[in-house]
Amino acid sequence: MSDTPRQILVTSALPYANGSLHLGHLLEQIQTDIWTRFQRMRGHQCIYVCADDAHGTAIMLKAEQMGITPEALIDDVNREHREDTAGFLINFDNYYSTHSPENKQYSELIYNRLKAAGHIAERTITQAYDPVKELFLADRFIKGTCPKCKAEDQYGDNCEVCGATYTPAELINPRSAISGATPVNKDSVHFFFKLSDFDAFLKDWTRSGTLQDEVANKLSEWLDSGLQEWDISRDAPYFGFEIPGEKDKFFYVWLDAPIGYMASFKQYCDREGIEFDAFWNKDSKAELYHFIGKDIISFHALFWPAMLSASQFRTPTAVNAHGFLTVNGKKMSKSRGTFIKARTYLDHLSPEYLRYYFAAKLTSTVDDLDLNLEDFVQRVNSDLVGKVVNIASRCAGFLTKKFDGKLADTDAAPELTREFMEAGERIATAYEKREYSRAMRDIMALADKANQYIADKAPWVLAKEEGKEAEVQQVCTAGINLFRILVTYLKPVVPELAEKAEAFLQDSLTWASSQSLLLGTSVAPFQALMSRVEMDKVNAMIDASKEEQAAAAPVVPKGPLDETPLLPEIEIGDFSKLDLRVARILKADHVEGADKLLQLTLDLGGETRNVFSGIKAAYDPKTLEGRLTVMVANLKPRKMKFGMSEGMVLSAGTGGSDLWLLEPDEGAEPGMPVR
Ligand code: 2FM
Ligand code: ZN
Repeated sequence: MSDTPRQILVTSALPYANGSLHLGHLLEQIQTDIWTRFQRMRGHQCIYVCADDAHGTAIMLKAEQMGITPEALIDDVNREHREDTAGFLINFDNYYSTHSPENKQYSELIYNRLKAAGHIAERTITQAYDPVKELFLADRFIKGTCPKCKAEDQYGDNCEVCGATYTPAELINPRSAISGATPVNKDSVHFFFKLSDFDAFLKDWTRSGTLQDEVANKLSEWLDSGLQEWDISRDAPYFGFEIPGEKDKFFYVWLDAPIGYMASFKQYCDREGIEFDAFWNKDSKAELYHFIGKDIISFHALFWPAMLSASQFRTPTAVNAHGFLTVNGKKMSKSRGTFIKARTYLDHLSPEYLRYYFAAKLTSTVDDLDLNLEDFVQRVNSDLVGKVVNIASRCAGFLTKKFDGKLADTDAAPELTREFMEAGERIATAYEKREYSRAMRDIMALADKANQYIADKAPWVLAKEEGKEAEVQQVCTAGINLFRILVTYLKPVVPELAEKAEAFLQDSLTWASSQSLLLGTSVAPFQALMSRVEMDKVNAMIDASKEEQAAAAPVVPKGPLDETPLLPEIEIGDFSKLDLRVARILKADHVEGADKLLQLTLDLGGETRNVFSGIKAAYDPKTLEGRLTVMVANLKPRKMKFGMSEGMVLSAGTGGSDLWLLEPDEGAEPGMPVR
């Protein structure tokens, strides 16, 4: 079984300190927590740290809006995040904040080392500036009318309605989303990390087994097209750390965020008397893993290893990226009630249901994971309650009633118990590789065998027969031992269930102990280990999420015509210029680095088109494949940041997650004109 003890440091991404945690955060923290609990069960030293990501303009503005200091805001949020993660049994060794003295110290140290080695450039840039609020505006803080389709209220970098990308300077009637003022251009000096100095290092590092293949392939495209300098400074006013030796210049939040991993670990080391350097020195033998979402890969797999290597620290052993969470096949949506906060879930349901469901679906890939609420209820009830807990509840009663809880001295099912023990290494390998769904399938297939064994032996029948007492005890002892091994294998996923099972078995479950049997000892009276999930509770959770949303946005509902007034009248000749056609969506994919776009491959009946469409907030791409829709087929191809877009698909709604793709009735075929 397990090899020599390893020293492992694990992190999950630092949540922003300006809002509540939702189930998307929990997907990552549960994935990470299962992995760290597994490593500890195998006898390794595994330390799991995290923190809040507390800096940046958004936090500064939110605090201002609330009439409190940023420090007060991040303290409140930190308290809430700690409570929520504890509720989901996330077993952090330390949960800190990036607004800490340790983080300031390491951020300055790393920056000074980068600067001394000549990796920091300094130059003047021109940016949009809010003359009323007196601050520089990032693209997302500028709004205006789309220069292409004239949709109003679009962000400064791309249009949610037509998917066009542009610079804020191209917006019609641009204004600051903060004060409403018209932005002006203003110069200021910025500091840049010269990422291209690390071109060769990164080409090598990203291909050295540190990343999933699909991630490494994606990064190769960026590496091949040349690395840009990274702007690591922001002007005052900004909530963050001032850059040493500069006035009114702050580190960009993404510079000090990953350093927050080190800072949280440092606080842990100081408290626990652990040697920080043993984990972070250039030649450290310890392992370092970052669990992150696929949207922040470039920060962790390009900037971060380059920063670490340039400042004489070790680089990560691996960066483990996961996909996004969808609910019922769609991106989480506030109006549908599927944007579920951690606390709202906990108010209605047990954390272990979700931990198991995520485990049953998690793989080591960056594929998105869908929480289908009906499947969730069905899967948890059938697997955990119907299969695993059922084994114990079918056997325990006989042992308690007839044998005072005493287990038999011999193993009545040696072949089965051997098979269960031998599965241990296979299941351990699946956990190690983050192939949890494979581990869960394996465990449930064993559970089926245990249940079959009990059904075949039918202790409830034997119990009524004369002279079969010893056999009843032996069959139930075998059943309880099979249950014990399964719960051991499930312990990283359902730690509370395992704890209750330990109290019942009067035994503590480790990976090593799964390789022996409990014979001749006593079990405690059986208590219910887990109750079934009820769909009513799930529905109540969705309703509560909708209510929270309504309370948070007390806007008087307006009709669609109020929101989007009709455009001026046109001639029939104007309309006939549009060549509208039926198209079939052959393929739909996320676009790396694009917040709002999906890439669609459309079949136009003999011709294939590539179209970028701003419908990402409304659709999980997988659910689109195969569907028919309507497209503007004669729209002049447009060069977008991510490639050429050859047409436009039509949808109803105002944008964001409120979009409904037009879909012709059945019988329509790709290429048919739409009149
Ligand atoms: O994307 C996010 O939510 C960031 N707050 C993650 C930061 S991870 C790390 F680099 F700090
Ligand atoms: Zn537009």
